[in-house]
Amino acid sequence: MVNLIILAGGYTNFIATYLFNSTSSNLTLLGQSPSGENPSWIASHPTNKSILYAVNEAFNGLGQLQSFLVGQDGALFNVANASSGGDGPAFVNPLSTGEVAIMNFGSGDGKFVPTKEDPLEFDDTAPVVTFPTPEKPPPSNFSRPHMALDVGSEVLVPDLGGDTVWRLAKDNITGEYKIQGQLQQPPNSGPRHIAVKGNTLYTIHETDSTLTQQAIPQDPTAPSPMIATFNITPPNPPPQAQFAAAEIRLLDSSPKFPKAYIYASNRNIGPVPAPEGDAIAVYEIRGMEFGGDENEFLVAAGNVGEAGTIVMRRTNGGADLEMVAQNTEILTRTTFVLLQQ
Ligand SMILES: *[C@@H]1O[C@H](CO)[C@@H](O)[C@H](O)[C@H]1NC(C)=O
Ligand SMILES: *[C@@H]1O[C@H](CO)[C@@H](O)[C@H](O)[C@H]1NC(C)=O
Ligand SMILES: *[C@@H]1O[C@H](CO)[C@@H](O)[C@H](O)[C@H]1NC(C)=O
Ligand SMILES: *[C@@H]1O[C@H](CO)[C@@H](O)[C@H](O)[C@H]1NC(C)=O
Ligand SMILES: *[C@@H]1O[C@H](CO)[C@@H](O)[C@H](O)[C@H]1NC(C)=O
Repeated sequence: MVNLIILAGGYTNFIATYLFNSTSSNLTLLGQSPSGENPSWIASHPTNKSILYAVNEAFNGLGQLQSFLVGQDGALFNVANASSGGDGPAFVNPLSTGEVAIMNFGSGDGKFVPTKEDPLEFDDTAPVVTFPTPEKPPPSNFSRPHMALDVGSEVLVPDLGGDTVWRLAKDNITGEYKIQGQLQQPPNSGPRHIAVKGNTLYTIHETDSTLTQQAIPQDPTAPSPMIATFNITPPNPPPQAQFAAAEIRLLDSSPKFPKAYIYASNRNIGPVPAPEGDAIAVYEIRGMEFGGDENEFLVAAGNVGEAGTIVMRRTNGGADLEMVAQNTEILTRTTFVLLQQ
């Protein structure tokens, strides 16, 4: 039996809290905590699950990073905010250095916000890191940083507009993050999110719905050819379907799930809603997150449509997914944090 508290952000003014009970397969909405505008991405502190970070995906200088204390039954209390330094922040990730990375999808820049002794408090003096403008004709002449992942002493930032993954490192003298190289991606592929295992980079590309694999060379200026490219468009797509890859999770093997798997979600952003059937292909999956013992459960939702939030169980050693619970009280969600009780 497992009880999971599920925190779920989206394009609303609140972060929802659900309780999932694996024995009854009940997914219950416990409450909605006020969050300000569009908490479209949320992330837990790496070692203290009582601390949650969220974006306010807002424009006109209102993009923000927020911290919350997670209370009893997953209720959230806002403690501090810091400016994201740009527009439309769609991603936040606390780094192992104690800084919290926030990437401004809308303005092609981002910030690494240091936290104070209490990781709920921000030092709001960090400079903005601006990514180079891609040499593309308008309206594609914008950098679109979509994520930040720390790998060793580097931070990797996939840039959907620039078709590249930037390699950043802290300048030893100024302590500021600087671009020191890049991992080039195929033209117009739209790299959105990444996962790393050892020195292998897996990238999910939104525009051409592919998953690619390449090495991360030790030298940040060295080129890195693709080792493999997979098309992740579902077979027999419904009429007028238009897929846009969204999310990637790489799960290592464990006793119950002997193989490591990559889970890639795909949204159908076409004009015609897809018929019911296979949950992953049908529901326009946007956010997804794993939790429970050995990451047995996957929580997913769409950013459009009416599927609400669903819980799936990994079956067949992790090769398949089976839907076990659904809650449609809130129709769309984009991001999850799972806390085991
Ligand atoms: C599931 O949750 C609903 C609403 O909270 C409750 O009425 C019901 O008894 C629960 N079912 C089980 C099997 O726990
Ligand atoms: C943080 O920002 C939100 C608006 O998004 C606001 O409601 C809240 O009062 C702010 N919190 C603090 C601690 O300033
Ligand atoms: C987690 O952070 C909160 C808020 O700073 C703090 O009160 C609590 O003691 C921390 N818990 C652990 C286990 O460090
Ligand atoms: C992209 O091109 C438009 C139109 O020429 C221009 O107004 C805009 O400043 C350019 N964007 C960037 C980031 O250079
Ligand atoms: C910082 O110093 C280390 C060695 O002390 C070096 O390996 C690294 O390349 C330096 N980083 C930068 C960004 O200068």
